[in-house]
Amino acid sequence: MTEALLSVRKLSRRFAAVEALKEVDFTVEAGEVHALIGPNGAGKTTFIHHVTGFLLADSGSIHFAGRDVTALSMHQRVAAGMARSYQITNVFLGLSVLDNVALAVQGRPDAGSSFRFWAPVTADRRLFEEAQHFIAQLGLEKHSATLAGNLAHGDQRALELAMALATRPKMLLLDEPMAGAGPEESARMVELIEHLARQVTIVLVEHDMAAVFRLADRVSVLVNGQLICTASPEAVRADPEVRRAYLGDAA
Ligand SMILES: Nc1ncnc2c1ncn2[C@@H]1O[C@H](COP(=O)(O)OP(=O)(O)O)[C@@H](O)[C@H]1O
Ligand SMILES: [Mg+2]
Repeated sequence: MTEALLSVRKLSRRFAAVEALKEVDFTVEAGEVHALIGPNGAGKTTFIHHVTGFLLADSGSIHFAGRDVTALSMHQRVAAGMARSYQITNVFLGLSVLDNVALAVQGRPDAGSSFRFWAPVTADRRLFEEAQHFIAQLGLEKHSATLAGNLAHGDQRALELAMALATRPKMLLLDEPMAGAGPEESARMVELIEHLARQVTIVLVEHDMAAVFRLADRVSVLVNGQLICTASPEAVRADPEVRRAYLGDAA
């Protein structure tokens, strides 16, 4: 039996009177798209914050890629292979698409060693070649020289994904990538995530159920800080408890 890529055990977190996470068990297998759904305020973003190390839990453990990362900082978890794309953008709006992605490549933990080997001019060329590779993956070639601040909303989301991918993560965490997107933009985002899913394991928090059921290999449902089930999209859709707690009659 192979070890899961991410294994969260009995993770709990309280904010004053709010029990935001209650003994959450959550496992992500390498290669899967694992969706996390649940009503507003269920604790989904809080959970992602704990997995990435932005917040530390009161109790419980987190193992990732064969290591106990429970006490590691966000930076150390990035170095271990986690990447997240933020609901709030961390793109430099005054820089071009190419420069933003090149910075993300350069910030990668192994970048120091892999680019130091080359003479500065060659290192620069290789850096920008690699950045162009990620730009092409997200279909942003024609915007390579565009200032990030001048991109349409959908292209900015694509740029964020290119920057996350440029860190060559083992696992990508996406917190509501479709938020604020119109139907056309959502459809494009679904296609991009489908494309990314072939090369990286994905944890996807999303409200758009059509997108979730199309993309996910497994779905976990969080309600009031408690993980009530993990199953295939079909099984989750059919589960009476899930329907009652979350999906209502919409599914
Ligand atoms: N930093 C914080 N301080 C206090 N309460 C918080 C904090 N972050 C989240 N909460 C509370 O934890 C609960 C879960 O929030 P959140 O994780 O944002 O839910 P979701 O992403 O599922 O909508 C909510 O009741 C929220 O008010
Ligand atoms: Mg949230």
